[in-house]
Amino acid sequence: MSTRPSRLLPALLAICLVSPAAAQTVGQQVAAQCATCHGQQGQSTSDEFPQLAGQNAQYLRKQLEDFRSGQRQHVAMTAIAQALTEPQMADIAAYFQAQTPVPHASDDTLLAGMGRYIYERGNIYSQVPACLSCHSATGAGSARLPRLAGQHPHYVMTQLRRFQSKERRNDSGAMAFVTQGLSELELRAVAAYVGGLNPQPIKVNTSKTLSDQKP
Ligand code: HEC
Ligand code: HEC
Repeated sequence: MSTRPSRLLPALLAICLVSPAAAQTVGQQVAAQCATCHGQQGQSTSDEFPQLAGQNAQYLRKQLEDFRSGQRQHVAMTAIAQALTEPQMADIAAYFQAQTPVPHASDDTLLAGMGRYIYERGNIYSQVPACLSCHSATGAGSARLPRLAGQHPHYVMTQLRRFQSKERRNDSGAMAFVTQGLSELELRAVAAYVGGLNPQPIKVNTSKTLSDQKP
């Protein structure tokens, strides 16, 4: 799908933020506040929105914290994160981690093949490190590293561009370095490749608090 619903964001956001905060189950809260964009089972309604199904709970919580504090910037997500309490963030993150992710493979197998080369070996001629050195060979991720496997290529490309331009900087600069020498073709190729990966999600202990995760 290649819908571009950016103009709809303010309207969707208004709907989401007026929902009552009264005693709701996590599923009801997701339905009221997240499902319009991310889907009830974390399979987003457009490739503009990240698939959250199977994403690591601790990574999800960190992103919500970062949106809330302004470390990561996005108009809609900042407002949404600011409306959540810490326990709600933890519950929603655990809920999305438990959902089953679906892959989004590219039709262009030649492009995805090039992406696999970048993912596994990088590009030594332009100082692009191999993605697997951090994100693992399967792309399943970990508590500190996002799952890339199955993510919408369009969303992946957007984030790679944001890291490259340093608009997104909530990762201590790792991804700015990684994307520095990445060409447009390599960026598209690696996004096409990770979209088709489909390992089992790694289950992490979600009972730990964010501060426990800091080094
Ligand atoms: C109006 C649409 C919309 C709604 C509603 C919405 N989101 Fe998002 N969300 C987005 C967009 C767009 C992004 C990508 C932001 C970017 O480009 O950096 C995003 C990104 C995220 C991310 C970062 C994921 C990653 O892989 O880094 C998390 C976590 C997230 N949303 C959680 C939620 C939760 C939890 C809710 C409900 C409480 C919610 N979102 C509701 C649009 C939405
Ligand atoms: C040195 C370690 C490292 C390497 C190598 C690396 N990454 Fe990352 N990556 C990270 C970290 C750390 C984050 C963000 C964590 C955060 O936001 O808290 C990240 C985030 C991302 C995201 C954002 C995912 C989301 O859901 O928003 C994408 C996309 C990504 N990396 C793709 C790649 C690709 C493609 C490569 C190879 C070209 C690569 N990474 C290589 C460490 C690395």
